[in-house]
Amino acid sequence: MEQKKSSNVVWHNATVTRKRREEMNGHGGVILWFTGLSGAGKSSLAHAVEEELHKMHCHTFVLDGDNVRHGLCADLGFSAEDRIENIRRVGEMSKLFVEAGVIALTAFISPFRSDRERVRSLVPHGDFLEIYCHCPLDVCEQRDVKGLYKRARAGEIKDFTGISSPYEAPVDPELAIETGTLSIEDSVAKVMALLRERGIVRE
Ligand code: ADX
Repeated sequence: MEQKKSSNVVWHNATVTRKRREEMNGHGGVILWFTGLSGAGKSSLAHAVEEELHKMHCHTFVLDGDNVRHGLCADLGFSAEDRIENIRRVGEMSKLFVEAGVIALTAFISPFRSDRERVRSLVPHGDFLEIYCHCPLDVCEQRDVKGLYKRARAGEIKDFTGISSPYEAPVDPELAIETGTLSIEDSVAKVMALLRERGIVRE
């Protein structure tokens, strides 16, 4: 991570606080951090959970790897250094969503354990819920929705997660979902149960 370059800056406290926003929203702010291999179903699950929450009038936003890399992180590639910076930016952005009282759902491979733990440490305890979308590599590769695994195997894409770049599975995630076998409906139900259990949503 780069050194902080701006020194003469003073934090300004908001009078409209997170607590006031959450009271108005009727639910808590939180980061639902979906992690897993490309093709494991992170984005599909995050969007399906968002649909469910939206129906309940919750304030939500999905931050998705492929989308964020078109804008905020368009200058980053897939070297370890760039992935670290990608997750750092997304982490800081997710923190702002939590401050805004929003349920932020992030879908990034986020292959390095230390990066995910750094994001966890940015927000108060319990506001970062790690959801491991576990789908075996061979299943992701068979699905190959974007045709990227085939290209990675052919050596056309370097540093590809699971093929030529590592993925460090979560050790103690708040939730692990077998996205290779479990239906999307059952997967959504598991996430919703976690949100109720943690008192983020009440219904
Ligand atoms: S992360 O590792 O920095 O967290 P991120 O989730 O933003 O990755 O982006 C992953 C997406 O970029 C994949 O779903 C895939 O579509 C695409 N992609 C392109 N090149 C690679 C690569 N070398 N490794 C992994 N994903 C890649």
